Amino acid sequence: MSEIKYSWQEDTAFLDQKLLRYSQSNCYPFHMPGHKRAPLEFPNPYSIDITEIDGFDNLHYPQGILKDAQNRAAELYGAQETFYLINGSTAGILSAISAAVPRLGTILMSRNSHRSAYHAAFLRELETVYLLPAATKFGISGSVSPAHVAQALEDLPQISAVFITSPTYDGVVSDIRTIAEIVHAYNLPLIVDEAHGAHFSFSETFPESALDCGADLVIHSLHKTLPCLTQTALLHVNSDRIDKTALKRFLSIYQTSSPSYLLMASIEQCMRFLNEEGNTQMSEFTLKLNNFYQQAKSLKHLKVFDKSSCLAEECFDHDISKILISIGDSGISAKKLYQKLLHNYQLQMEMCSGHYVTALTSLMDSSDGFRRLLQALKEIDDSVSITQRTPKTEAPTIHGSKPNAKKRLLTSDVIYQNPKPQMPISLAIEQPSETLTLKASTGHISQEYIFLYPPGIPLLAPGEILTGKLLGIIEHCQRLGLSVEGLSDMDNQCIQVVKQ
Ligand SMILES: Cc1ncc(COP(=O)(O)O)c(C=O)c1O
Repeated sequence: MSEIKYSWQEDTAFLDQKLLRYSQSNCYPFHMPGHKRAPLEFPNPYSIDITEIDGFDNLHYPQGILKDAQNRAAELYGAQETFYLINGSTAGILSAISAAVPRLGTILMSRNSHRSAYHAAFLRELETVYLLPAATKFGISGSVSPAHVAQALEDLPQISAVFITSPTYDGVVSDIRTIAEIVHAYNLPLIVDEAHGAHFSFSETFPESALDCGADLVIHSLHKTLPCLTQTALLHVNSDRIDKTALKRFLSIYQTSSPSYLLMASIEQCMRFLNEEGNTQMSEFTLKLNNFYQQAKSLKHLKVFDKSSCLAEECFDHDISKILISIGDSGISAKKLYQKLLHNYQLQMEMCSGHYVTALTSLMDSSDGFRRLLQALKEIDDSVSITQRTPKTEAPTIHGSKPNAKKRLLTSDVIYQNPKPQMPISLAIEQPSETLTLKASTGHISQEYIFLYPPGIPLLAPGEILTGKLLGIIEHCQRLGLSVEGLSDMDNQCIQVVKQ
């Protein structure tokens, strides 16, 4: 990486030029994609960009080189069958849910699921029943409780499949082995969105992969944590509980009819790299990570998440490649920490939440990258020691709480609720609608989503009631400078609701 400082000022109006300037700068990527702009040997993209010509097979009807490539991926991961995804995990999640749950059926899913799971529910007109993981002491959503899965399956015989996000965007893993046993006792399929865990199988330092724990369908985004181009992902089939013909049909509906050979070549190359060098590269990576965590213990005010500070039932396991840096008692806001890392140290984080920032790391991160992050954190930590550390008013109070109530951080238990949908997502969206100001919408049924992006987990989904408490949370997220998205009114003033 060069010494050129990246300027966020509008230096050019053209995307390609802006990307090039960013890539030539000194800005270090603690964000996706997992290749970290340190490419494996890859041909000039134009030279290998083709369509389905003779000898190059057809992703939607693979019989030759693409069939063999997918078989190699299945072998590497130990799956019964693996499908290449060139429309990201999004396409895999849409297909998996569509194949596992009949139209108008019911799905049991973790509330902190990616929006593609909600979109699958919309497209297939499903009823959604949610599992809300409890928050950990650190203030992030914890693991899904196996006992809650068991209770829901006992109470609701209409459920056709269970969908769990593990790891979460924060790297929190659920006890998939126990959940799989419970789900299979009802002879139902378990789908695991392991989009953020495609690297798990290659080192024992990481949590056990859902594939080894008995999940029936597992979805991996290769681009998130491995050296692979954006949009590349895999869908693994691990049992006979899923109708593969239906699965293939949905894959061909949700994926483009012009699959990019560039993306497929990138997947093939990534699989070969993992096969040949995966274990060695992962052990170097985990050494760097362990060193980082060891040194981060000397931070006095900022706090790096460590699962040993949680109860096992709060956080069954954690992927240490997701480094979560909490503001602790530093007195600065997460937004300030994020901006300092970016503008003072040229370190681009993956995410800024209400009380922590996330550095997404991968085996492609350099020792220098880790050194720069540690150095920056130490300097920021030292600088807050010598300034007065009174918590700023950013520590949010939530609408509806008493004026003098103790100020609470915007932790996941505050942000995410477990709503009882008034009607399925698809039904709500298709009702006659009216547009109200957000302020006037209390008590109405939403036709729109509201989520923080990233990570894109809904605070509100269509079919759910707008409450005063929720509106207070949204207002607060906005005040903290978090990105509240989903409404068609991009100024977040108005919302479409079901007409009363
Ligand atoms: C938990 C989770 N699942 C699925 C996805 C979708 O993955 P993709 O971007 O590969 O479509 C995301 C994207 O951020 C995610 O965070």
